[in-house]
Amino acid sequence: MGNFGAGVFKHLTQNRALLRERLGYEMSIGKIAVRDLGRDRGVDVPPQLLTTNWRELLDDSSTQIIVELMGQKEESLELILGAIERKKIVVTGNKALLAEHGKEIFESAFAHKVPVFFEAAVGGGIPIIKSIREAFIANHIQSVHGIVNGTSNYILTRMTEAGLGFKEALAEAQAAGYAEADPALDVNGGDAAHKAIILASLAYGFWVPPEKVFVEGIENISASDICFARQFGYRIKLLAILKANEGEIEVRVHPTLIPESHVLASVNGVFNAMAVKGDVVGESLFYGRGAGQDATSSAVISDIVEAADALQSPRRNLGFMPHGLYGTCKPIDQIVSEYYLRLTVDDRPGVIAQVAGILGALNIGISSILQPEAAEGEIVSLVLMIHRATNSQMTAALAQMEALECVKKQPRMIRVEHFS
Ligand code: HSE
Repeated sequence: MGNFGAGVFKHLTQNRALLRERLGYEMSIGKIAVRDLGRDRGVDVPPQLLTTNWRELLDDSSTQIIVELMGQKEESLELILGAIERKKIVVTGNKALLAEHGKEIFESAFAHKVPVFFEAAVGGGIPIIKSIREAFIANHIQSVHGIVNGTSNYILTRMTEAGLGFKEALAEAQAAGYAEADPALDVNGGDAAHKAIILASLAYGFWVPPEKVFVEGIENISASDICFARQFGYRIKLLAILKANEGEIEVRVHPTLIPESHVLASVNGVFNAMAVKGDVVGESLFYGRGAGQDATSSAVISDIVEAADALQSPRRNLGFMPHGLYGTCKPIDQIVSEYYLRLTVDDRPGVIAQVAGILGALNIGISSILQPEAAEGEIVSLVLMIHRATNSQMTAALAQMEALECVKKQPRMIRVEHFS
């Protein structure tokens, strides 16, 4: 019972009558594991429910559902696998653990025929897991574009709207309580990658190996990138992108220029949103609070109820439905995108010709160019919007540009998404 456990306890207690009316039965809490018996958690917990030994929960034969909200690695995995072996249904929000050990957890879940539910792992209170797994069961999921990390979205929003620096905006986000214990995971794309892996695994029926996912964070996004992007009519968002084509999938997380007219461009602050495209349903959009005690509790309680229902009738859906239609992830080098490129160059004759020559020789097209006016001989930004090219074409172009004498700093490249 940390922050999320306290929220689940609070709302299970406050909405007890509503749940009883809806479900036709009452759930009771058997035991609660805590690290510190004396800590005030803002909820009134009967002291006899508390233990400092989480293994006691596994050994209690009357407990049918274990809710794992420890957010640890080794201990959480031991608790989850131990619960499955003892035929106790698991509810967890542990996204990092699922991303890294989802395959192992579900192999055990299938071997023991025990469900594992994890609605809180992605999108906080947004019911994206149940939607992809159940509501969209009729669909091949063609794509998902998600803003799935509230902290980085908050930072980018504050940089865009208030002109804050990166560090100042991060400090504000941390003060609001959304950042991970290790804030590096929020800004380096790691947290969004965990969520992308979970969504991709649900959508495509196999646990995507983390090493197949391309991940880039927002640490190097500068105020000038945000400003230039706006001049071209784009906003910068950290997107988790999933796409499928003929059995092959793309899973990637990176800062992305998106047209300011797209609905995801208006998702600001700590809010999360996912645009899902299925071959039957078409396009749909999810929006809400992706973190925080209350929103997360809403997702956890929905899983507890699903677990309670599963106790009453055995089911094939154990929380993850594997299938064999997909299975390979496209390497990042082969992934095609459009790009924003910002070079820092000498303002003198022939510079644009050299840069354009490199791109032309690699068969990479330029769709737009912007260079703010400066005095001759000064160092200026040269910003190029690039037509569709593979990542490997762009890597080759960047290496050649960096070697030019007129290019003064490492070029900055940001992918562009048009959702078409
Ligand atoms: N640190 C995460 C975020 C919390 O900022 O979205 C929710 O997983």
